[in-house]
This record gives sequence, C-alpha cells and structure tokens, in this order.
Amino acid sequence: MVYYLMVSLLFLVNCCICAVVPILSNGVDEVLNVGNNLLGGGGLADAHRTPCQLIESRNFICEEHFVTTPDGYVLAIQHVINPVYTSNKTTIKTIVLTHGLFGSATHWLINSEGGFATDWTGTVVDVNLDIEGRNAPYLLSNKGYDVWIPNLRGCRYSRNHTHLNPNIDDEFWRFSFEQMITYDAPTIIDYVLKQTNNDQLGWIGHSMGTTIIFGLLVEQPEYSKKINPFIALAPVAYVGHITTPIRPIAHIPGLKEALTVGGGEINLPKPLIDLAASEFCTRPLVDQTCASIFYLIGGYDPEQFNITRISVYVDGGFCGTSSWTLNHYAYNYVNDQFARYNFGPIGNLEKYGSIDPPKYNLSAINLGNIVLITSDFDPLSDPTDLMTLKKSLKVPFIEYSVPYPKFSHLDFLWAKNVYSQVYEPMVRFLKQFD
Ligand SMILES: *[C@@H]1O[C@H](CO)[C@@H](O)[C@H](O)[C@H]1NC(C)=O
Ligand SMILES: *[C@@H]1O[C@H](CO)[C@@H](O)[C@H](O)[C@H]1NC(C)=O
Ligand SMILES: *[C@@H]1O[C@H](CO)[C@@H](O)[C@H](O)[C@H]1NC(C)=O
Ligand SMILES: *[C@@H]1O[C@H](CO)[C@@H](O)[C@H](O)[C@H]1NC(C)=O
Repeated sequence: MVYYLMVSLLFLVNCCICAVVPILSNGVDEVLNVGNNLLGGGGLADAHRTPCQLIESRNFICEEHFVTTPDGYVLAIQHVINPVYTSNKTTIKTIVLTHGLFGSATHWLINSEGGFATDWTGTVVDVNLDIEGRNAPYLLSNKGYDVWIPNLRGCRYSRNHTHLNPNIDDEFWRFSFEQMITYDAPTIIDYVLKQTNNDQLGWIGHSMGTTIIFGLLVEQPEYSKKINPFIALAPVAYVGHITTPIRPIAHIPGLKEALTVGGGEINLPKPLIDLAASEFCTRPLVDQTCASIFYLIGGYDPEQFNITRISVYVDGGFCGTSSWTLNHYAYNYVNDQFARYNFGPIGNLEKYGSIDPPKYNLSAINLGNIVLITSDFDPLSDPTDLMTLKKSLKVPFIEYSVPYPKFSHLDFLWAKNVYSQVYEPMVRFLKQFD
C-alpha cells in the first residue's frame, strides 16, 4: 500500500494548482513537455543526481557500501573519499552524517554548487567557506575527516530487503523510527567502525538522525563507548510542541488507523518529483509555490532559501518513508512524550505487557560528549520540547544556539548562511573532541 497522502496533497495544492495561471498562459503542449525537459546544466545539474553522482561531481571518490540489518533491511552508505588524503595524509576522524525524516544522504550534498575536493586543513584557507562550505560532507572531508553518509530504511536508496519486496510486501513497511533505533543505527555504527578499524566515531545527525541516537543510547547504552562526539543538529526527541503547519494532520480522525493498518509507504509520485525538478518549478510564481512544500514541513525562512535551486531541493530533498514513522511521531506529539511505537491497548499489552507503550528514559543516557546545535525558531525542534530533552539528560552537554533569529529546520541543511551559523561552530566542537 502506498500512501501518497498528505505530502502529495499539500504539494498538489501548493504547487500545481497555483501553477495553473502560467500553465494556461503558456499553452498545454509546453506543460506536457516540461517533465522531460529536465535541467542538466548550469548550477542546477545537481537535480537528479544520486548521492554518489553528487559526491563524484565534486571530484571526491564515492564508495558505496551495503549493510544488512538483523531484520533484513539492506541499507546503502556512501563513503566520501578525498583523493588528497588517500595519497598523502591520514584523516583525522570518522564521522557519520545521518539525515532526518523524508531525507536521504542527498540531503547533505545539494545545498550549493561548490565544495570541490581539496585540502582546507591549513590555518589560512584560500577559499570563501561561507560560500564553499555549505555542504557538510564536502566541508568535513576537505577539513580532513573521513565521512560516511548512511540512508535509513525505506528511503529510495535503502529500499531493499533480504526477503521482503517493498513493492509487494506490506510487511516491509511495518517499521517506524523505533526499528531505526534498534537496528539501523547500531548496524551502521558497527559496520563503519569495522571498515575503518576504529573504536569510536563521531555521529552528526539532523532531526530524526538525532532521534535514533537518543533512543539508541537509552536502549543500548554500550554504544556510548562508540560515539564521540554526538552532534545533534535540530535535535528531536520530544515533539509535543512542534509548530509546523502540518501539525493538525496528527488530529485528523481516522488517519491514525489508516496509517497503521498494514503499514505502508509515504512517498511522492515519481512523475510529480520529475515535474517539480524540471524547469517547471523555476518559473516565477511557481517557484514560490513549489517552495511552500518545504516551508510547510520545515518552517518558513525565505531569506536563507536559495529559490534558484528549488528544482535541486525538490528532487533531492524528498525521500520516502513508512507511514508508521509518521504515525509514531504523531503519537508522541499528541501525548507529549518520547515513547516506543503505539500498537493500541491490546497490541501494547501483547508486545510490552502494558497498556501504553514504554517511554525512552533519556535520564539513563551516559554519553558525556553530546553537543546540541539548536535554533529558537525551529518549528520541529521547539524550545519547549528542547527544554524537556535538556532537563531529562543527566549528563553534561554543550548547547549552541544559532545566532540568526529566523533559522529554521531545513536551514540546518540548505540555508545560504549555514556555514557561519552551524557548520563553522560544528567543526570547532568536533576539534574539541578529536
Ligand atoms: C543560488 O543558487 C544558484 C544556482 O545554484 C547559484 O548560482 C547562486 O550563486 C546561489 N545564490 C546564493 C546567494 O548562494
Ligand atoms: C601529495 O604530496 C605531493 C608532495 O607534497 C604533492 O606533489 C601531490 O600533489 C600530493 N598529492 C595529492 C593528491 O594531493
Ligand atoms: C537487494 O538486496 C539483496 C540482498 O542483499 C541483493 O541481493 C540485491 O542485489 C539488492 N537489490 C538491489 C536492487 O540493490
Ligand atoms: C531513568 O533512568 C534513571 C537513571 O538511570 C533512573 O534513576 C530512573 O529511575 C529511570 N526512570 C524510570 C522511569 O525508569
């Protein structure tokens, strides 16, 4: 079962209907051709590139790894290799960069055109990092780190399983971020440690890429020994106070049941993505309406959003997930808690021996090197929820709040000022733990 539901609906309303004016004025033939007239050149060549194609387009070497979780999901991990370091230098430290909800490795790789493989380790770097340093993986690799970028289960690059077919078997989609906590995160960590022959790695997560580490550190505290540091960009554990406009969806009667039965995929139809990633969304008027899909999900910050690159963000910015993942966040939102998956009273009794799903006890986390990079304006990582998270943590942690007052959820990936606001301090914190 595929749910094109919500996101699709919002997208249609915001992008396509508003596009009717230009469609009518430009003639139907042109519109029909638009889907095939994909942008290939200029600064927008990043649209339609896979993670490895993106990495290679910046002259890095991309090594693709596939790792199988204990429950059979086959996850792709892209390893960024800087040719400068393979021959002459050793890298400083291994870093895993993990995307959030509706994301993939691509999320980190498309913010700006630049970031070519080179060496930015010197004290005097002859490059404008405010412009060239906007893509975290290229920045970190050029700064001497060994960068690995996993794709969590369900997204198009990790849409595979040892014996379930995601196109046919509903069972494939019966997962939420709980299974990413229990299986994906530890599998990725152990695999990368083994490949690199290390005892520890740095984990940098965005949004759900932080949820799964908070959960893991509670569930399997032995992973504290393997993570140093954990840098949480736009941390998400409690979600009771999110203010994004998609919030009311959690209250739609019957939606929970619809999302829970069988489990299904949430995705955008491919033709719609192709259309959006074509020249279509770059037209004046239409570009703003195409961008509204991101504003709806991630909050509004038109000033730092490069509308010229809208086709790249639409194409690379949306990867499918399971309806259960959304449902899990919706339950935690409605109940203002960070709990395990809710199967309803009977299902919960069977699975957990209690009517309600057990909560993740964040006070049990014993990792001492956590850095929270936050923004007061982030609608999905709200200050009230952050306060609950911070109060729950009994270990010391560093918090860095970005100075730019309107910094929003997706700005951690795609803002024009992301280097000065987030990545520059992030590199400083990394050094602190080297
Ligand atoms: C916005 O994106 C376009 C296309 O990639 C690029 O040419 C331009 O320099 C970017 N603008 C800013 C302010 O970064
Ligand atoms: C390796 O170092 C040598 C000598 O310092 C230099 O000529 C060469 O360009 C370096 N190779 C790379 C790939 O940076
Ligand atoms: C999916 O995973 C299986 C098992 O690891 C593998 O044999 C197969 O080649 C993979 N398929 C794709 C399309 O990657
Ligand atoms: C949570 O963990 C802390 C620290 O281990 C412990 O003191 C506390 O009792 C736990 N709370 C619950 C509800 O289990």
